[in-house]
This record gives sequence, C-alpha cells and structure tokens, in this order.
Amino acid sequence: MDVLKFLGQALLPEKYYKMSKDELENRVREIKAQMGKELFILGHHYQRDEVFQFSDVAGDSLQLSQIAAKNHEAKYIVFCGVHFMAETADILASDEQVVVLPDLKAGCSMADMADIHQAERAWMKLQEQFGDTIIPITYVNSTAAIKAFCGRNGGTTVTSSNAKKVVTWAFTQKERMLFLPDQHLGRNTSYDLGIPLEQMAIWDPNKDELEFEGNLEDVKVILWKGHCSVHQNFTVENIETIRASEPDRTILVHPECCREVVEKSDLNGSTHYIVETIKAAPAGSKWAIGTEMNLVKRIIKQFPDKDIISLNPHFCSCLTMNRIDLPHLVWALENLIEGKVVNEIAVDKATAKDAVVALDRMLALS
Ligand code: 13P
Ligand code: SF4
Repeated sequence: MDVLKFLGQALLPEKYYKMSKDELENRVREIKAQMGKELFILGHHYQRDEVFQFSDVAGDSLQLSQIAAKNHEAKYIVFCGVHFMAETADILASDEQVVVLPDLKAGCSMADMADIHQAERAWMKLQEQFGDTIIPITYVNSTAAIKAFCGRNGGTTVTSSNAKKVVTWAFTQKERMLFLPDQHLGRNTSYDLGIPLEQMAIWDPNKDELEFEGNLEDVKVILWKGHCSVHQNFTVENIETIRASEPDRTILVHPECCREVVEKSDLNGSTHYIVETIKAAPAGSKWAIGTEMNLVKRIIKQFPDKDIISLNPHFCSCLTMNRIDLPHLVWALENLIEGKVVNEIAVDKATAKDAVVALDRMLALS
C-alpha cells in the first residue's frame, strides 16, 4: 500500500457517523440517481451488506477485474473492496477514469506479506540457484508493484477462479513456478494438478531463505510464505467436530484454506464457485462453508430453504473488507458529486505499464 497516501487519508467528518442508516441509504440512492452512468460502484462478495446492496456489479476478484477492464464509460469507479482490488481497477481503467476506495485503511494482510524489495531479493537468489527456469505468478491479492514484477519477468496474475488454468499455462512456459503471496492457493492448485507436495519448496521472505528438504533439482513449485489471516482460521478440528455430529453436512471451503483443511473437506473452490454451488444445491441440503463471514451470512439469508452454517462458529469477518461502511461510502460519493475526489487510488504509470502486462495475460487465459 502507498504509505504516504495511507497516512494522508482525510479523516471522515463526524457528521457521517451521526446520520441514521436511513439517511445514509437515501443519500446513496439520491447520488446514484443524480450521477447516473458517470458513477460505477463495484462490490466484492466479502463486503458488508450495508454497502454491498449499492453495487452496480458484484462479484469475486476475477469477475470484478474483468468488469473493470470493460467499463470505460463511467467517470468514477468506486470500489467497495480492498486496496489491491482498487489498484487493479485503476490499472485496467482508462486514463480518464478515477478509482476511489472509500477508506484507504481497507488493505489486505496477505498482500502486505510480499513487498517488492523482498520479491526482488528472492528473485535474485532463486535465479542464482535455479537459473532461468522459473516463472513468477502472483495471486491478484498483491500490490501493483508485485504484479508489475511478474509482468516484467514473463509471469502473470491469478485468481482463485482461474488458478488451475493459469498454473497449467505457467508450466508450458517454464520448468518451475514461484507463486506469491498465498502459499495455500499455490499448494492446493499445484497439488490438484498432480504436483506432489515433495516437489514444493517454501520461500521465507523474512529470512530470505528457501525451505526444502531433498534434492533441489526436484523443486517444481516455490511457494511464498504468505497466507490469508481470515481463511487460516478454518481448522481440521472444525471439520472433525462437524463430521462427528453431522456426517451428512457437506463441507465446502475456499482454497485459501490450508492443505489439510482442503483435503478433509468435500469440495473446494473460489468465491464464485461457492456462491454457484450453493445456488444449485437442492432445498434441504446441509452445508458448512469455510470462507469470509459476510458472504456466509448473506448466503444463509439468500437461501432459507437450505441449511447453511459457517465451518468455524467463532469465526469473524475480514476486518479490512469491513472498513468500507456506509458512512465512508456516502462521504466519498458526496465529495464526487461536488467534483472533489477523496481517497483516489492511482497507480504510478511505470508500475501500471508492467502490471497491465501481467493482468492482460491472465485475462486472456480466463
Ligand atoms: P476471490 O474473490 O478470488 O475468491 O478471493 C478471495 C479473497 O480473499 C478476496 O480478498
Ligand atoms: Fe486479504 Fe484474506 Fe481479507 Fe481477502 S479475505 S482481503 S485475502 S485478508
């Protein structure tokens, strides 16, 4: 995240906290009606309902980046999601479009686990070790600088929805893959494609060190030691508890969960896959879902004919996704209608030039 921008974020004026929910909602409706097609609100599935309801388009990371790449008529794109998503939208938007993130504190702890200096150091060491045999692939949950690094070095981006396709492509390009920053998505996808765990090494960015036992020549996948602090809360114990009391409940998890959890669950897939699977499930079917809580709660409400619970009963939402609330949304919109932009996300041109190479490769594969 751009630290200076983050520190320089204007404070939300007090009056927005004092407005009632109805007042805030009415204000969003009025501004949307007034601005028409000039304004385009994108909402990730993990957003709170209070803002999610106002999305012009909702989706997972892949869908939202595809939509951002196509919409060139809106003057303002307001992103209800996290910082890396707004950066992606800015990279894919035209120069005239302005991208706004209602609260700059909506970051992502996983994206913060790979900074560009660490990645450059890792790359240098890995090239020394393995020569020109590695392709870098980054989950879109990463900074624009990491995407640019992948673009410059022949690699691409990936989301949980297209991971198998992208990783399959990666191995048509090079013998080995460096997968950043989520070790779990990298491990789960590679394993599903038939790569044994014994051929996967871990790169520790804090120690600048490769963790691997065995013959280095056998390494096919190098997993960056990062993770999602939300999905790591789902455990094998959660699964065993449900299996013991309700063996007929189907367990469905996101591939950001660790290998053991994915292995012991019945199904796994991206946010989009989770939504579609529940939609298609028969009435009366029983589910335990391992993903972000705002989405699980919404699915429970949307499908009252199905019996749905969270895999972890004590599990909370993604705190950074939750930074985007109605007061921040209304504040950002009221400024736009007055011709002022608060919390603009603007990726510098040099970074965007390389990052778009990585994103375009992914979009062409998706
Ligand atoms: P997807 O939208 O690709 O499923 O990613 C999940 C996520 O963690 C978003 O932050
Ligand atoms: Fe980042 Fe995980 Fe939150 Fe997604 S759910 S924004 S990966 S911390």
